[in-house]
Amino acid sequence: MAEQIEWVPRPRPPRRLVEFQVTKQHRRFVEFADAVRRHRYIGACYGAPGLGKTLSARTYAGADDYDEWDRDRYSRRTALPASLVASRTLFYTPLVHITGRRLNLEVDMFAGSLSADINRALNPNCQPDIDEDVDIPYLTELVIIDEADRLKTNALEQLRDFFDRNDVGLILIGMPGFERQLARYPQLYSRIGFAHQYRPIDAEDVPTVLAHYWAELGRIYDPADPVDAESANAITTITGGNFRLIERLMTQIARVMAINELDTIAPEVVHAARQMLVVGTQ
Ligand SMILES: Nc1ncnc2c1ncn2[C@@H]1O[C@H](COP(=O)(O)OP(=O)(O)OP(=O)(O)O)[C@@H](O)[C@H]1O
Ligand SMILES: [Mg+2]
Repeated sequence: MAEQIEWVPRPRPPRRLVEFQVTKQHRRFVEFADAVRRHRYIGACYGAPGLGKTLSARTYAGADDYDEWDRDRYSRRTALPASLVASRTLFYTPLVHITGRRLNLEVDMFAGSLSADINRALNPNCQPDIDEDVDIPYLTELVIIDEADRLKTNALEQLRDFFDRNDVGLILIGMPGFERQLARYPQLYSRIGFAHQYRPIDAEDVPTVLAHYWAELGRIYDPADPVDAESANAITTITGGNFRLIERLMTQIARVMAINELDTIAPEVVHAARQMLVVGTQ
C-alpha cells in the first residue's frame, strides 16, 4: 500500500529577495504613465531586459491586487481593491504568438470588465451588465501592454482601433529599438505622444536598494564602512545597475555566505558569487 504523505500547509517562499523598491526610475515611469493617461495618448516605454519595466508597470496598475481579487471574485463577496479603483489601469501581457483577433477580444473584454468592476465598486447599485439603458461611464483610463514587441502588424492595427474607439491612454512596453519599429505603422506612430526610456538604477538609489538586500541577508549596510563600500562598488560594476542582475548576484552571495558560514558581505564573496553567474554579467 502506498505510504500516506502527511500534508503540512506551508506558504510559498517569496520569489524575490526584496520587496518592490520605489526608485527614481519607478517615479519617472509613474510620471510618464500619468501623462499618457491624462492626455489619452499612446506612450512607448522601452528599456533593456531586467531593468524593472514590468515590475514598475505592474505596481502602477495594481496588477498583483487585481490577480488576487480576480481569482476569488465569484467565490467570495469581495470588493474590488482600492488600489484598482484608484489606478483604473489594465495591465495586460499578450501571448507570444497572439493573433490580432484574439488580442482585440481580450483587451476589449478585460478593459470593459475592469471598467464595470470599478463602476460596481463606486456604486453597489450599478449593474453594468444589466442596465443597458442607463449611461454607464467607461472608467478604465489606461491600458498597459507589456512585451509589446511580440505584436505583429494586425495586432498593432487592432490596438490602434481599440485606442480610437475608447477614451483611454495606451502604453506599449518593449525592448530598446521597438519604439523605432513602430515608425513602420504611420497611423499608430502618429498617435504616440510620449516615448520613455527605462534606465538602470540611478547612483543615488544604489545605497537604499543595497541596504534592503543587506538587511535580507541579516546585515546592516553602512556606506561609510570601507568593506561595504567596496562590495557595493563591485556589485554596481558587475551588474551595471541592472535590477535583475543585482537580484541574481545577491541570491548567489547569500548562497556563498551560507555554504562557507560567512557573516560579512566582503568583496571576495561578491566575486565568488559572480563566478556562479554564468551568463548575463559583463
Ligand atoms: N523596483 C524594484 N524593486 C525590487 N526588485 C526589482 C525592481 N525592479 C526590478 N526588480 C528585480 O528585477 C527583476 C526584473 O524586473 P522586470 O521583470 O520588471 O524587468 P523588465 O525590464 O520587465 O525585463 P524584461 O525586458 O526582460 O521583461 C525582477 O524580477 C526583480 O527581481
Ligand atoms: Mg518585462
